[in-house]
Order: sequence, then C-alpha cells, then structure tokens
Amino acid sequence: MSKFSLQGRTALVTGGARGCGLAFARGLAEAGANVAVFDLVPAEPGFLAIEKECGVRTAYYKVDVSSQESLANGFAEFQNDFDNALDICVPCAGINRHLKFLEYTYKDHHDLLSVNVMGLYFTAQLAAKQMIANGTQHGSIVLVASMASYIAVPTQLCSAYCGTKGAVRAMTPAIAKEMAEYVSLPLKPSPSDLLLSPPQNIRVNSISPGYVRTEMTAAFPHLLPLWEREAMNGRIAEPEDIMGACVFLASDASSYMTGQDIVVDGGVTRW
Ligand SMILES: NC(=O)c1ccc[n+]([C@@H]2O[C@H](COP(=O)([O-])OP(=O)(O)OC[C@H]3O[C@@H](n4cnc5c(N)ncnc54)[C@H](O)[C@@H]3O)[C@@H](O)[C@H]2O)c1
Repeated sequence: MSKFSLQGRTALVTGGARGCGLAFARGLAEAGANVAVFDLVPAEPGFLAIEKECGVRTAYYKVDVSSQESLANGFAEFQNDFDNALDICVPCAGINRHLKFLEYTYKDHHDLLSVNVMGLYFTAQLAAKQMIANGTQHGSIVLVASMASYIAVPTQLCSAYCGTKGAVRAMTPAIAKEMAEYVSLPLKPSPSDLLLSPPQNIRVNSISPGYVRTEMTAAFPHLLPLWEREAMNGRIAEPEDIMGACVFLASDASSYMTGQDIVVDGGVTRW
C-alpha cells in the first residue's frame, strides 16, 4: 500500500470547509498529507478535528475562488505559511442553481461560470505554477467535475451547471497535456535515485461524483427517493464514498494516469 501514502506531502483543497471537499481533505490527511483549505464559509468541526486525529498540519483560508484578487492573496498567504510546499491540488469549490433553461439570466449563468469554471481553472493554474517552482516529484491536480457532465440530470433543472462541469471534464486532458512537459527531477539525481523514483510529470485528472448527500443536494429532500432509484446500488453517496478516488488520483498509485476522469456515481450513468 506504500504507493497510496501521502506522507510528507502538502495538499490544497478548495471548497474544503464541508461536503465533498471536506471528505477529500480528510482522506488526503488520513493518507498522511498536510492539508490547506480555501473556502468562503467557516470550516465545519470535522475539518478542525483532522489535525489532531491524523497527526498532520491543517490550515483554513477564507478565499473566494471566483475573485482573482482573493485567489492570489490566498495563494500568497498559503505559500508563506507552508514554505511554498504543494504536491496535490483539488479544486472542488462549486455551486449549482435550480433554474429552467428558458429562465436562466446572464447573471445566474455568469455566477456559475465564475466559480465552477474560472475559479477552478485559475486555482489549478496557480497550483501548477507553485508545483513547478518547488520542483515537487509528486504533482497531482484533481479537478472536481460531475456526473452532470455526462447526462441531462433527469430530476433537476441544471443546464448551466451541466455546461460548467462539461468544461471541467474537457479542460482536464488539455491541461494534463501541457503539464506533462514539466518533469521534475531531484536537484542532482544519481542513477540509483532515478531507478528508485522515476521522474514524474505533474498529472491532471478529474472526478465525476454522482448524487452525494451534501448542502448542495440538501435543498431537494423530495428528490431523494428518485435519486436512490436512479443508482444501481439503490442509495445516494455520502461524501466519504467519493474520497477514495481522490486519494488514489492524488497518490503515486495512479502515477500512470493523467488526463482521465473517474466517475463515482453508483452506476447512474451506466444503465
Ligand atoms: N453533491 C453532489 O451531488 C455533487 C455531485 C457532483 C459533483 N459535485 C461537485 O462537488 C463539489 C463540492 O460540492 P458539495 O456537494 O460538497 O457541495 P457543498 O455546497 O457542500 O460544498 C461546496 C463548497 O464550495 C464552497 N464554495 C462555493 N463557492 C465558493 C467560492 N466562490 N469560493 C470558495 N469556496 C466556495 C462552499 O462554501 C462549500 O463549502 C462541487 O464542485 C460540486 O459541483 C457535487
């Protein structure tokens, strides 16, 4: 299992104060990583418990990923606090709106794009720059897309959301291709260094969760029975059900994977 270990690595998770992002932060910490979180809302108690329970360092930064200035300030503070360390970045902050296609306003759509597409893209860009600068041997960026990038979600009115998640999935291989050029090597590698630890690119993959029990879906309690029926396994996911895919993509266990998407949806999109 050593390839799954994140001991000594540093991760950044946006939207990590609660929900899927909090589960990702927890999973990365359980595997040994120090974890910083960017979010708009205060971190839930579950985040505050990670440091003690996992024996890693954690930090919370109030950052609005849809604001270029807030994002840049957040990265500057994080870099300063963590001596520029960064190996793993999980841009997970996201929002949804339940609105009919014919009633969507320019502003509603723009708000979604600012967080789900622009916020995610520039989080990944700033993280990649930091990884290139610090010469990490284990760079991994895990973008959070959605099952909604594969299907018209039958019970929801989310055309713009589906579009933003399609953008995440489409940008993943394109960013991965560019990041594959950044092979980081130890400063003075000996032949045995190279044999034991072959040079790694910065890898970029995405995760597409299905229905997950979080604040985002809490607004639709009446849809729960329908969602349960849509899943082959008859239940909706808890955030912890998505966590393993994130830890896998963040770790060397997935070192030959880049530009790919992992769908964790209880089979919703497969029947
Ligand atoms: N819940 C689901 O069924 C589901 C399914 C597929 C994909 N997703 C995706 O998973 C991710 C996490 O969603 P969740 O279900 O945990 O919802 P959530 O609402 O519990 O979590 C989203 C987090 O993002 C933060 N956030 C929102 N806008 C932000 C901004 N501008 N700057 C910083 N942080 C911001 C929120 O404060 C919140 O903590 C999202 O990208 C979502 O689209 C969720």
